[in-house]
Amino acid sequence: MDTIRIHDKTFNPYISEEAIRGKVHEIATALNRDYRDKNPIFIAILNGAFIFAADLFKSLSIDAEISFIKLASYKGMKSSGHVISVIGLDIEIFNRHLVILEDIVDTGKTLHEFLPQLWHNQPASIRIAALLHKPAAKEFQVNVDYTGFEIPDKFVVGYGLDYNGLGRNTAAIYQLFE
Ligand code: IMP
Repeated sequence: MDTIRIHDKTFNPYISEEAIRGKVHEIATALNRDYRDKNPIFIAILNGAFIFAADLFKSLSIDAEISFIKLASYKGMKSSGHVISVIGLDIEIFNRHLVILEDIVDTGKTLHEFLPQLWHNQPASIRIAALLHKPAAKEFQVNVDYTGFEIPDKFVVGYGLDYNGLGRNTAAIYQLFE
């Protein structure tokens, strides 16, 4: 794999398509086991999680629903201060088992602000599945129940993740070259 150039930055190949596929399959296997007969609702957080959510959802063999929510909390290469709900939940979550799908948990701020809003509607349970997790960047306590890869606090793109709008459309994940 070659380095890629997005806007003014160079990114190195970091996690291969095969490694991602294997990890998504592992997470799906765990979910198939843990949510058998629970008919969970998956809530994918747009935009970043759309590819992860699609691949994961295809690997599920249990009965499951999916809904998409859009929150804005990120600008450029640093988390910004505000989380805004742009597209609301269009599904009744009372007494339902929820699995939140995130591309990456960075500072934890997005989920820290979003989870109380979900609990407000009294779901039966909430768990989090994140393809990537940056434990070093954690400023807000968030428990990630299903983690794909723990990565250092370095900016990454690809497989749904962007740098200022570009870079989402790669099968692999790339890391900022500094
Ligand atoms: P948090 O609120 O700081 O946990 O940030 C979560 C959101 O920030 C993710 O859903 C991503 O959209 C974005 N984000 C965090 N780190 C990165 C990164 O390294 N590359 C691209 N987007 C990122």
